[in-house]
Amino acid sequence: MLRLPAFLLFAALPSLLAQAPADPAPVKAEPAAKAEPAPEAPKAPTQVTFTRCNVDGPYIAMTFDDGPHGTQTPRLLKMLRDRGIKATFFVVGQCVAEYPEIAKQIVKEGHEIGNHSWSHPSLSTMATDNVRDQLERTHNVIKQETGVAPTVMRPPYGNFTTQQRAWAHATWGYSVVLWDVDTLDWKHRSPAKTEATTLTNTHAGSIILCHDIHSTTVDAMPATLDKLLAKGFKFVTVSELIKLNREAPPKPAAPAKKTATAPLTAKEAATAATSLDELAKTPPKAAPKKK
Ligand code: NI
Repeated sequence: MLRLPAFLLFAALPSLLAQAPADPAPVKAEPAAKAEPAPEAPKAPTQVTFTRCNVDGPYIAMTFDDGPHGTQTPRLLKMLRDRGIKATFFVVGQCVAEYPEIAKQIVKEGHEIGNHSWSHPSLSTMATDNVRDQLERTHNVIKQETGVAPTVMRPPYGNFTTQQRAWAHATWGYSVVLWDVDTLDWKHRSPAKTEATTLTNTHAGSIILCHDIHSTTVDAMPATLDKLLAKGFKFVTVSELIKLNREAPPKPAAPAKKTATAPLTAKEAATAATSLDELAKTPPKAAPKKK
C-alpha cells in the first residue's frame, strides 16, 4: 500500500477536496513545491448566530427585550439619550402594534430594532408555518410603523433550531442574536443585581441581555450605564457590533522549516491531525441559553 507522509497529505488536502478524490500521483511527483505554502482554510460559511463578538476595541451592545412598554421604554430612551448611548431593542410584534409611537421613537433616536416574535412563544418546537407567522407579522409591523426593516432577530428564550436559524437568515436576512451576559433581570427584579451582573461579566464584544418592560431594570440603568462608560466601554448597536466582528486568527500552519520528506514526529503528526479535524468542521454554533 502506498504510504504518504502525513504532512504531504495535510498540504495536499485542499486540492484533493477541491477536485474529485483522485489520483494521488501529483502529490508524490512534486512534493517540495506543494508542501511549502500553508494550506488555506476553507472559506467559513456566513455566521448567522452571535452570542458575542470578537472585536478590536471596547465595544459592547446593550439589548432590551420584550417591549416596547408604555412607560418603561420611554424612561429608558431618555437615559440613553442623555448619555449618547445607542442600544438595540428586540421588540414583540403585538407590543409594537400597541405602542407604535414608541417603536417609532426607538428608531428615530438612532437605536436598532430587532424582531422578537409576535407573542413571545418558544419557537423551536413550533411548526414552520406558525414560526413564519410569528416572525413575518412582527417584521411587517416594525417596517410599517418605523419604516425600517429589521435585520436582526432574537428568538424568545433563545430557543431556535439550527435549521430555523438558517431558514430565518435565508428568508429575511436575519442574524440571530443571543447574548453572553444574562442579567436575569426578569427573575430577580433587583436593580443592584442587574448592575452587578452586568459590570462583572461584560467584556469587549459582549452582548448584554436586559428587559425594558421591568421598572427595576430601567431603575438599574443610570448607574449601570455610567459605570460601563467609566470603564471605557463604547456602546454600539448589535448590527454595528456584528460588523466589527472579526474571525478568529487562522490556525498556525505546519512548520515551514520542515522538508516535505522529513517524517513527522508523533507530536507533530498529532497536531496536524487535530488541525485537519478542525479544518473539516464548520465553526461551532452557539448553543442557546435557557433562562
Ligand atoms: Ni423575551
